[in-house]
Amino acid sequence: MFTWTKRAFIAGGVGLAMGLAAPSWALDDYGLGRAATPVEVQAWDIDVRADFKGLPKGSGTVEQGENLWEAACASCHGSFAESNSFITPLIGGTTEEDMKTGRVASLISPTQSVRTIIMKVDSVSTLWDYIHRAMPWTDPKSLEPDEVYAVLAYLLSLAEIVDYDFTLSDSNIAEVQERMPNRNGTMFWEGLWKVDGKPDTNNTACMTDCLKTVEVKSELPDFARSANGDWAEQMRIIGPVRGVNSLEPALTGTVAETGPAVREYARATLDAALAAANATPAAEGTDGKILDTQKVQALLTQNSCLACHARDTKLVGPSFIDIGKKYQGQEGALDNLVAKVQTGGSGAWGVIPMPPHPNLSDADAQLMIEWMLAGSPQ
Ligand code: HEC
Ligand code: HEC
Repeated sequence: MFTWTKRAFIAGGVGLAMGLAAPSWALDDYGLGRAATPVEVQAWDIDVRADFKGLPKGSGTVEQGENLWEAACASCHGSFAESNSFITPLIGGTTEEDMKTGRVASLISPTQSVRTIIMKVDSVSTLWDYIHRAMPWTDPKSLEPDEVYAVLAYLLSLAEIVDYDFTLSDSNIAEVQERMPNRNGTMFWEGLWKVDGKPDTNNTACMTDCLKTVEVKSELPDFARSANGDWAEQMRIIGPVRGVNSLEPALTGTVAETGPAVREYARATLDAALAAANATPAAEGTDGKILDTQKVQALLTQNSCLACHARDTKLVGPSFIDIGKKYQGQEGALDNLVAKVQTGGSGAWGVIPMPPHPNLSDADAQLMIEWMLAGSPQ
C-alpha cells in the first residue's frame, strides 16, 4: 500500500539527511540512549483503543461526575460543556435520530456553524483516553480512572446519550458506544487502510485541463495581520521554516513569484534565531565581532573539512587550533588562508597537499578562517 512505502521512503530520506549533516560520528556509532525499562514503558502505555483494549477497570456515576465537572472542568468548558471560550463547545448539536443512525446529520448542513466535539467524535474510547491523558488542561493525568468514568458519564448525560441515574463502567462502555451519535460518521478502515481501497475523500484526481496556478482565495484582514507581531520571527527554529513578514503589507502575486522572497526572509529569521539561541557563551572574532559558531560548524561539515581536520588534533591536516596559533595576529593572514583553502596546496605544514575548494564562497571561507584565528571557540 502506497502510504507505507512512502513512509518508509521518507524515513529513509530523513536518516540520510541527518547522516549528511553529522557525518563522522552519527552513522556508525550512535552511543546514545539506552533501552526503556518495563516500568517506563508502562508509564507511557496508557492508550485506550477503540476496542477498549487498555481501558482500566472502574466506574463512576453521572452525579459524581457533575460535582467533579463543576470543580475541575466548568471553569474552562462551561457548566454544560457549552462554552466556546477555549475550544469549540464539547456538547450540543446532536439528536435522538443521530443516535439511531450513528451519523450526525447537521455535520453536512450548510447552516450548522458550530461543530461540537460530540458531533464529530466517533468513539467513546477517544473521550475516555483524552480526558485521562490531557485534562484538566492545567493538571493533566491527575484524574483517577473512576473520576474519568464519572466526568465522562456526566458529559454523556448532557448529550442525552445516557440518563442522569447512569453509572458508566468498563463493563457497559461498549453499550454506550452503540449510541454514540457519530459512530458511523467517519470512514477509516475502508478507504485509508486497504491496499486496493480508495482514499477517504470525494475528490477525483485531475488528469486533464488541470489548474496551472493555484489562486489563494482566503486572506487575513489587514487589521488582524500584525496583531501578533511578525509571525515569521516566531517560527520554531527547527524543522522546515516558512513565513512572511506580517508587519509588512501582504504580498501579491503567485507563489512562484513571491516564493523566493518569502524563503529568503524566513531563512534570515531562522539564522537570527539560531544565532540568538547560540549566543551564550558568545564567541568573539579577532575584531570583536560575534562569530556564529553554529554556522561555522555547519560550514565545516557541509564542506567536508572535518574529513581531514579536527579542532584540537592533527588528522590529515593540522588542527584548527594549531592553524589559529600559527597565524594569529599576522598581517594578511585572513586573505592568504582564504585563498589557500580555495586553491589548495602544500608546503606550510608538510608535503601532503590540501585539495582545492573552488566552490567555497569568500564569505563562507572567511567565516571559518576568522573562527580559526579567534582560537576555534566552541
Ligand atoms: C484550563 C482550562 C481547561 C480545563 C480546566 C479543562 N479543559 Fe478540557 N480542554 C481545554 C482546552 C484548551 C482544550 C483543547 C485542547 C486541544 O485541542 O489541544 C480542551 C479539550 C477538551 C476536550 C476535547 C478533546 C477533543 O476531542 O478535542 C474534552 C473532552 C475535555 N477538554 C474535557 C475536559 C474535562 C473532563 C475537564 C475536567 C476534568 C477539562 N476538560 C478541564 C481546556 C480546559
Ligand atoms: C583532503 C584533506 C583536506 C580537506 C578536505 C581540507 N583540508 Fe585543509 N589542509 C589539509 C592539509 C594536508 C593541510 C596542510 C597543507 C599545507 O601543508 O600547506 C591543510 C591546511 C589547511 C589550512 C592551513 C593552510 C596554511 O597555509 O597553513 C587551513 C586554513 C585549512 N586547511 C582549512 C580547511 C578548510 C576550511 C577546509 C574545508 C573547506 C579544509 N581545510 C579541507 C587537508 C585538507
